Amino acid sequence: MDLVKYLFLATVLGLLCSNGDCKLLDECSSDGDCGSGLYCFSCAEDFSGSRCVRSTVTDQFKLVNDSLPFNKYAFLTTHNAYAIDGEPSHTGVPRITFTNQEDNITQQLNNGVRGLMLDTYDFDGDVWLCHSFKGQCHDYTAFEPAIDTLREIEAFLSANPSEIVTLILEDYVEAPNGLTKVFTEAGLMKYWFPVTSMPQNGQDWPLVSDMVSKNQRLLVFTSIKSKQDSEGIAYQWNYMVENQYGDGGMNAGSCSNRAESSVLNDMTKSLVLVNYFKSIPIKLTTCVQNSLDLINMLQTCYGSAGNRWANFVAVDYYKRSDGGGTFQAVDTLNGKLLCGCDDVHACEIDFAGDFVDLAVADQRQQVRPSLPAGRRHNISRHRSTLPASSSTSTLEMDSGDVVLVWRQFPPRLPATSSWFSRVHLCACLCVCSGGRECRCGGNSHVGKEIETGMGLVLPFGSGSGSGSGFWVLGLG
Ligand SMILES: *[C@@H]1O[C@H](CO)[C@@H](O)[C@H](O)[C@H]1NC(C)=O
Ligand SMILES: *[C@@H]1O[C@H](CO)[C@@H](O)[C@H](O)[C@H]1NC(C)=O
Ligand SMILES: *[C@@H]1O[C@H](CO)[C@@H](O)[C@H](O)[C@H]1NC(C)=O
Repeated sequence: MDLVKYLFLATVLGLLCSNGDCKLLDECSSDGDCGSGLYCFSCAEDFSGSRCVRSTVTDQFKLVNDSLPFNKYAFLTTHNAYAIDGEPSHTGVPRITFTNQEDNITQQLNNGVRGLMLDTYDFDGDVWLCHSFKGQCHDYTAFEPAIDTLREIEAFLSANPSEIVTLILEDYVEAPNGLTKVFTEAGLMKYWFPVTSMPQNGQDWPLVSDMVSKNQRLLVFTSIKSKQDSEGIAYQWNYMVENQYGDGGMNAGSCSNRAESSVLNDMTKSLVLVNYFKSIPIKLTTCVQNSLDLINMLQTCYGSAGNRWANFVAVDYYKRSDGGGTFQAVDTLNGKLLCGCDDVHACEIDFAGDFVDLAVADQRQQVRPSLPAGRRHNISRHRSTLPASSSTSTLEMDSGDVVLVWRQFPPRLPATSSWFSRVHLCACLCVCSGGRECRCGGNSHVGKEIETGMGLVLPFGSGSGSGSGFWVLGLG
């Protein structure tokens, strides 16, 4: 059977991919078909049928590090995070209002959402999360008592000791200490980030790593100014600028502050929040808004905010997209914030770009060294070919993903397979300038040493010039 026929049949039979090996935008018939971090979704306006699209955030702290100030990172934020499809009525009266999300709070957090916008109201003698009708929470617009949601947040912070969650409250609670009471009851005060540690004049925030080590991992902002003094809850507009929300914030090419916020380029506020959602959410078109339109708006708001990338990007139905969606938008923001690249993946300590330093040729051993018994060894493999010629004493050879540095001149390899008592693998930080480029420093490593151990060098070809090269098997 020729390939075209095979592909045709495979498409008809849906055999192109399945069981978790479908990649981004491959056709799929269920979530299980898609690889990890993806789910099966249809965005009728942008593609036919169902395809795998992203469902989780890239962890920028794991990928890069968490040693920068909090305001140097971006976080996915869910607008009206509590207004969830399928939330049963807790008032005994059927709800008559719209929803903004489809996943519950725990799922949102597990998928990497780190900012939650919640509307808090006095209702039924307690604090509730609610949509309002004429400024009031009613039994037919109420979602749930705030304590339920706060307990989910507490469970997440407790299970994930290096994560930080930000709550942005549209606050209508007037009961004295109403919020303090419910946060205390939910067990959240032990994570409280104190107002006194928040920067007032556009300075950087504390380092994420310090916030984590002090366990100050819950940031809460209220829209009621007086609560900063009365309850120690940060007044949002002292610390953050924010663009217009709803339909007014979705005009391509324009990004201006909402009424309560200072102008976006007020540099005395170190955090920037971009809203991008309709006044009344429409599921069917959200996948289009959450995709390229969103990234374009982030770019527009970057300009309006005095060349500052957003730290929070607030959306409805956060998983709806035509591919990378809101997750790609956050990857773009983190890339810009952390290393000036278009994607945070370009900033990573790139293990695929391992760097094998064979400088220690004098330590070559002709016999296989005895390895400590009872220990499993990890083997890393690297292949590189020599360039035709070189005039430098340090050769940097880039064969696809592997960057090898051979510090010997002229570039000549051992004629036979040889053990080196020490091969040095070094991950390098990618620096992007134009296209993706991964360079480690020549004679001095700028990368981070990740592994030093014994290694076997297996040459092929004549030993010099193109067509020659070597494999390095490193034993960790
Ligand atoms: C959230 O949704 C998941 C998946 O449906 C479910 O297993 C979990 O119990 C829900 N959690 C809460 C607190 O509702
Ligand atoms: C963390 O990453 C940033 C951004 O790439 C970098 O500037 C900084 O040096 C890194 N810090 C550590 C401790 O690796
Ligand atoms: C081998 O790799 C595994 C998985 O990455 C790691 O957990 C283990 O510690 C490594 N072993 C050695 C001896 O480096």
